[in-house]
Amino acid sequence: MTYINDNYLKLTAGYLFLEIARRIEAFCAKNPAAKVIRLGIGDVTEPLAPAVIQAMHTAVDELAVRSSFRGYGPEQGYDFLREAIAKNDYQARGAEVHADEIFVSDGSKCDSGNILDVFGENNVIAVLDPVYPVYVDTNVMAGHTGAADASGRYSGLVYLPVTADNDFVPELPKQRVDLIYLCYPNNPTGVVATKEMLKRWVEYAQQNGSIILYDAAYEAYITDPAIPHSIFEIDGAREVAIEFRSFSKTAGFTGVRCAYTVIPKGLKGKARDGREVEIHPLWNRRHCTKFNGVSYPVQRGAAATYSREGKRQVRETIDFYLTNAKLVRETLAKLGIQVYGGVNAPYVWLKTPGKLSSWDFFDKLLQEAHLVGTPGSGFGACGEGYFRLSAFNSRANVEEAVQRFAKIM
Ligand code: MLT
Repeated sequence: MTYINDNYLKLTAGYLFLEIARRIEAFCAKNPAAKVIRLGIGDVTEPLAPAVIQAMHTAVDELAVRSSFRGYGPEQGYDFLREAIAKNDYQARGAEVHADEIFVSDGSKCDSGNILDVFGENNVIAVLDPVYPVYVDTNVMAGHTGAADASGRYSGLVYLPVTADNDFVPELPKQRVDLIYLCYPNNPTGVVATKEMLKRWVEYAQQNGSIILYDAAYEAYITDPAIPHSIFEIDGAREVAIEFRSFSKTAGFTGVRCAYTVIPKGLKGKARDGREVEIHPLWNRRHCTKFNGVSYPVQRGAAATYSREGKRQVRETIDFYLTNAKLVRETLAKLGIQVYGGVNAPYVWLKTPGKLSSWDFFDKLLQEAHLVGTPGSGFGACGEGYFRLSAFNSRANVEEAVQRFAKIM
């Protein structure tokens, strides 16, 4: 028989959101009349901005005519989109990122997993705990860890706890690490990183020859002008960081699929023989070998988010979700529940009432209020006793959800 990748056998449970979907399905099968409201997976609900729709329609019409038809596009993305990203998302904030350092892709989840292709096998990897599970699981699949212990932590990874006890500010690793995953605004806790925090990480990476994998998928939700949107707003970050960004949560593209990764020229790793090697050409090689680019209409739609109208419309939708988050946060706080996040992020992170375990609270909410959230323990051992509610839903559903929540507390 053919050998499989044994690393997959180390994965502790199903992918978190699949496990949640399984429990909801079982509940709905038994309670077909229940109107379940989902504040679990961070999936958008509001329609695309009219400017995006218009741009996509026009692009489709271009493809219908021989003279403007396009086949394969550049794997890295069309210049019109890469230039709009560099100008609006970076240069406008004083961050040095050039269009040819941007790789357009079909998702930040994919990119944050695929990036491991260009890194070696013996790197020491640090993640926050709780953490977006994709960073951990992709390292398990790649064979970068040992087995998991009873709490679900894998040997070989360096876990940096973030809980209410340290105000969700991770300590710098006590040992030297090669790769560090950071996500701000944070999924799942909804907290943000200040400039000072990011400076400390950049200095750590400079001193230790590490690379920071910075996931900024939720940057559009930052409302506080003092909070950086990109790691590249920090001096020296170009030499030590890669950044992942997405149109999913910014412009409602979870189903449309468009994201990008920034790999600054000059960012280097080390070959086995000790030579310093640039990461940019390695990723370019990987991208061109395994990926054929995002479709033309989708890239036109993404580019439309940078037009004057597009910016305004996208902002309105983000403000709408942030108002949902405020409603959740304020209602729960009034009920005496300890809440975090939800101000500069679409996620509200809460301490489970009555010291219930995360999954027990999940079951209670589902059974008694027909509400779905995400158990904190699904994001890591330090997430036990916490719970995440997402702000992605209609206003009517969020209003009803908080009322149901209040009834069972
Ligand atoms: C989440 O709910 O954590 C996100 O939707 C997951 C994702 O973006 O892949």
